[in-house]
Amino acid sequence: MKNIVLIGFMGTGKTSVGRRLACRLKCEFIDTDAEIERLMGKTVTQIFARDGVVRFRSEEELLVKRLAGREDLVIATGGGLVLNPANLRLLKENGVLVALTASPEVIYYRVRSKKSRPLLLHKDMKSKLTELLQERENVYKAAEITLDTGACSIEGAVEQINRYLLERKYIL
Ligand code: S3P
Repeated sequence: MKNIVLIGFMGTGKTSVGRRLACRLKCEFIDTDAEIERLMGKTVTQIFARDGVVRFRSEEELLVKRLAGREDLVIATGGGLVLNPANLRLLKENGVLVALTASPEVIYYRVRSKKSRPLLLHKDMKSKLTELLQERENVYKAAEITLDTGACSIEGAVEQINRYLLERKYIL
């Protein structure tokens, strides 16, 4: 099986949907943020604070190089990972890109009390979030299928992705 790669903004449900999808497809699940945290022995917030965003992005790039050479994975990517065209190209080569979206209101509701997303730790989180969303919208269009997770449950999203993969014969 080609890798199934979930892309999309923070708070669109990539990790939750990805984990369940991997269960359903009986394959390994990799969350790029969790993997980088494991490799560096620090949380994403600590990496941003101590090493900087450039270091975090270079860890993402290294990880993508390793993952793109594998198959049978469900990969949930960090929201900014596909801003790097090289990452997008590599993931696309051997994977099916699935974008998850949600409205700014839904995303805000999901992330507002979490402290784990350094880019959103802003005094006006809502405007920051809207600004970043606008900047990135086009990048997430690189996916071949897009699902609005504000309009369905996690199980519902998994079901739709599974149906799409079957229809396109990405899975049997
Ligand atoms: C980021 C998204 C985060 C994490 C980091 C940067 C981004 O991942 O990689 O905080 O640039 O959008 P999630 O999308 O899993 O929250």
